[in-house]
Amino acid sequence: MARIVAGVATSHIPAVGAAWDNGKTADPYWHPVFKGFERSKEWIAKLKPDVCIVAYNDHMSAFSLEIVPTFAVGCAAEFPISDEGWGPRKVPPVKGHPELASHIVQSVILDEFDLTIVNKMEVDHGLTVPLTLMFGQPSEWPCPIVPLAVNVVVYPVPTGNRCYMLGKAIRKAVESFDEDLRVVIFGTGGMSHQLQGPRAGLINREFDTRFLDNLTKDPQSLVKISHLEYLREAGSEAIELVMWLIMRGALDDKVKEVHRFYHVPASNTALGHIIFENATR
Ligand SMILES: [Fe+2]
Repeated sequence: MARIVAGVATSHIPAVGAAWDNGKTADPYWHPVFKGFERSKEWIAKLKPDVCIVAYNDHMSAFSLEIVPTFAVGCAAEFPISDEGWGPRKVPPVKGHPELASHIVQSVILDEFDLTIVNKMEVDHGLTVPLTLMFGQPSEWPCPIVPLAVNVVVYPVPTGNRCYMLGKAIRKAVESFDEDLRVVIFGTGGMSHQLQGPRAGLINREFDTRFLDNLTKDPQSLVKISHLEYLREAGSEAIELVMWLIMRGALDDKVKEVHRFYHVPASNTALGHIIFENATR
């Protein structure tokens, strides 16, 4: 039986990927950011997951306004890296796990979540920056990835509760996959940030800290946060935090918090990161 052993949440700030790609990890501005992930890299290298499921959002790289799937699962064997304007990041292509991805699709759709099946898709910084932060820059990524693209760009976006319940359905799907796989699930994006308008650069440390605290001990309180509350309290792009609730929904009710890191500013956002282990792993 496959099982979800741990969850990782992290911001997926594109400038962090650019800092890595351009050899700026030791610069005074970026050094604290990468230092915050040193323990995470050691942790995941020791854990050696067989597969990672990564909930992230596409930033109009693979999709466009022509097609906006709410939840899309990448079922391909390989996902090329998007060109987001400066050429594709020089990171390895992302290898998929078509069998597990198709099984998740089958199980979760029969559980009445209407997923979109994607058999050809490029992946952008939303997925590759978390991989870089957790795995560094190997010649190939250490395990296959199941990309789960969530629309948090075009309204209406899914509610936090819907994402949390999807996490539970994904866990059920994983646990009915007939292969002994140890799976880590990622939720990416967030924390407080707003990229445009008069409130650009908004950071709400209090909101972020409370979100991290409750992600550990009271996720039920987070599923009730409305879209308006995310926008008002933590900025327009903080809505990405609903993807962290997919990760949290896929874990045990009680989890062990292994590591937490929070840093401001990174680019013009708050960078948040937390790792959980399932008690039942
Ligand atoms: Fe994003």
